[in-house]
Amino acid sequence: MTALRPVALRCEHQTAPMGLNRPHPRFDWALEGEGHERSQTAYRLMVRAGEAMLWDSGKVMSAQTRQVEYAGPALVSDQALDWTVMVWDEAGTPSDWAEAGHLFTGLMQQSDWQADWIARYFVLPAGREAPADNPYDNRWQARPADHFRRDFSTPDKPVRATAYVTALGLYELYLNGARVGDAVMAPGWTDYHQRVEYQSYDVTDLVRSGANALGALLGEGWYSGRVGHNQRRAGNHYGGRPALLCQLHLEYADGRIERILSDADWRTVQGPVCYSDFLMGELYDAQLEMPGWAQPGFDDARWQPVEVFTPEPRAPRLEAARAPQVRETVRFPARFLHRARTGGHVHDLGQNIAGYVQLEVQARSGDRFTLRHGEMLDAQGELYVANLRHAVAVDHYIARGHGCERFKPRFTFHGFQFVELTLPDGVSPDDVTLTGIAIHNDLNIAGSLRTGSDMVNKLIANIEWSQRDNFLSVPTDCPQRDERLGWSADAQVFWKTAGYGMDVSAFLEKWFEDIAEAQLPDGAFTDIAPSRPLNPYRQSAQPGAPGWGDAPVILAWQHWLRYGDRALVERHFDRLVAWLRHIADANPDHLRVNAVYNNYGDWLSVGPASDRTMVATAYWVHVADLMAKLSAVVARSELARYYEDQARAVRQAFIKAFVDDDGRITGDTQTAYLLALDFAVLPTDLHAKAAGHLLRKLEEANGHLQTGFLGVKHLCPVLSDIGAPERAYDLLLNQSYPSWGFSIAQGATTIWERWDGWTQDKGFQSVNMNSFNHYAYGAVGEWLYARVAGIDWDETDPGYSTIAMRPLFDPRLGWLEAHYDAPTGRVESTWRIEGSLVTWTFSIPPNCAGRIALPRPVLTLIAGDRPLPVPGASFTLGSGRYTITLSL
Ligand code: BGC
Repeated sequence: MTALRPVALRCEHQTAPMGLNRPHPRFDWALEGEGHERSQTAYRLMVRAGEAMLWDSGKVMSAQTRQVEYAGPALVSDQALDWTVMVWDEAGTPSDWAEAGHLFTGLMQQSDWQADWIARYFVLPAGREAPADNPYDNRWQARPADHFRRDFSTPDKPVRATAYVTALGLYELYLNGARVGDAVMAPGWTDYHQRVEYQSYDVTDLVRSGANALGALLGEGWYSGRVGHNQRRAGNHYGGRPALLCQLHLEYADGRIERILSDADWRTVQGPVCYSDFLMGELYDAQLEMPGWAQPGFDDARWQPVEVFTPEPRAPRLEAARAPQVRETVRFPARFLHRARTGGHVHDLGQNIAGYVQLEVQARSGDRFTLRHGEMLDAQGELYVANLRHAVAVDHYIARGHGCERFKPRFTFHGFQFVELTLPDGVSPDDVTLTGIAIHNDLNIAGSLRTGSDMVNKLIANIEWSQRDNFLSVPTDCPQRDERLGWSADAQVFWKTAGYGMDVSAFLEKWFEDIAEAQLPDGAFTDIAPSRPLNPYRQSAQPGAPGWGDAPVILAWQHWLRYGDRALVERHFDRLVAWLRHIADANPDHLRVNAVYNNYGDWLSVGPASDRTMVATAYWVHVADLMAKLSAVVARSELARYYEDQARAVRQAFIKAFVDDDGRITGDTQTAYLLALDFAVLPTDLHAKAAGHLLRKLEEANGHLQTGFLGVKHLCPVLSDIGAPERAYDLLLNQSYPSWGFSIAQGATTIWERWDGWTQDKGFQSVNMNSFNHYAYGAVGEWLYARVAGIDWDETDPGYSTIAMRPLFDPRLGWLEAHYDAPTGRVESTWRIEGSLVTWTFSIPPNCAGRIALPRPVLTLIAGDRPLPVPGASFTLGSGRYTITLSL
């Protein structure tokens, strides 16, 4: 037997964290290994700073592979570390050392920050001459981007150079003219009044001996740009102008550290980025470029001095970025379709993305190119932009006039598939190359699933794309219109699906901080996070509606099940308790009649609406149940009992108020039965009756779904649980309205906000609420991975230590090939149906068990090439690759 291999090393849920927020970080690895029933019996972990050993765990007799906490001397700031691990298997055979993981500790104490926040003066102090550096400056409109620079010199080339940088706004950092890192939209969105995340970059290769220069470009982004629903005074949510904070640490061979700081010595000017704003777009005038501005020795005499800036209302806490950065990930060549009525040239990327277009051209100085963005074309083939509401989504490029010019906007993004290019006179479309560039948090891709149905494959691709397009610093509702906010129910219903698409652990740790910071003093979680008063009609943040404010409880529970990570639950547990107290205080009769501020019910459902108090109360049962379980996770048994009692009382109130003796629920909607069944609200006899009603409701709707955001997630899982998986397959494969297949038949490349976003007879839905890139209805993805492929977590043994494998075979799919990179290792599942025979091949990573439950007893079971005794339909297997046959 070959030795095990520790792979996929992670620290604080990241492959290579740039900065840590805890001096004792946690390490994870996965295992690979041939053969069967493999397991880890011991590990040894080492953490080094250069040659110096900081911690050698020694051989620890343990099967633990997740969240092994560093137990060396507390890590200090500004260290670059390597770590590695080796393991021993069941026979005591040692593995090789894993390929080392790298990390930076960052600046862990607030007092490590010696730099000043700097900004461009709003109004220059008397006596300072204000050069007319930019014709577009108008402080009340979208602002031009600010350039900052300073020269510095070094006695020698440093042995290590690290840049710590962040902004109130968005930044790009340059060193000696070269762009530092490849993050876009950094430092991301947080409540800048409370917390700002910073990035750490290894810039050793960029610093020279002698003359050097640092440069930075600052945009408005979420800080002072337009965010959320439009209003006349749409921008300036956190402040009026962006500011920079930057600290470059230079370590010399003799151990001396020199720091180059953002401070009063920097200078600033505005240049070619005439404005750049999420909703407006960008205007770039290349005639205003300042070649060499970030190079040493550039003449900045005409630049302004900077203002040392005092953030208001207080200086935010500085914390290391918790999640992988937003980056450019996939490029799409734009295909010319036709001329629009406006004369513009309409192009198609073939994929609805969040990002921007890169334009390459040779042109005359002053030639203006305009790019308009839209998700759809109307019946005449014109760009459809009504659904963008107040988002303008137009970029302009004014050419420099020499050489091959390449433009892509810096501090804006659009949600679009189609782009309309307006050319200056005399330029032919053939002279221009357009490329769509998708951006999103660059999380590790976790899963893949393909089947014998093209439509289902397209559905999976659409789900993946809506996830990419909406994972932009926070999980957003949509990337295109004047919204793009971290709506919590959208995330909550989609989260299990999202976890199969990508490793969402670090991303959630970051967003959970935003959720926590947005929580109101009375315990209410908010509808959106980060949550400043982004809605023009309210002065304060919006308390969470049922299903929305409940999201943090559901997310914490899912994080525990998927990653086996107790720390996030512990960190935020009291906040969850406060939310439940808030619900209970407002609803002493155990019916959730008082939904505090808003109750959206089963948002955007088609067909008869579900009773909102019923939906809210069912959710209360669910979150009280989850709180009982979470209390056990953090060993608070008294609270576990309290929530069990609460859940019991709310169940009783629910049954009394909404359920008749025949198991009919008020409103008689699909969602009513789905919630009651999936949240186990009803006693056994009523449960069976309610299941019957659900099937009746489906039949009455001619086999069509009728749910909105909250109901959709439960459709296929519940139908499978009540013994009607073929009804779940009917919904999956349906192509007539309303269904997933309907949007695909209309050419969808993402998940739509509405089942009827566009229909043959009605055309486009209301312009007020009609995004073609909202992931909530993509929540069917979890059923495809967890049940159809059979790669589910197991509540009794979280973190994919035990895998619940309950695949659902259906001849209409023919075959399926899936894998999921669980935190413990890769799980694979492939099945094929020939005649009435199913052949299922699957693999379970070392150190894990598969709890198998099949619809029928197996005919044959082969481990590798060794036949095993036939075990029935439910059994448990250790690690390894197996092939099972059974009849359909
Ligand atoms: C958003 C949703 C959100 C909803 C709440 C909408 O404007 O786009 O996705 O959940 O409001 O009702």
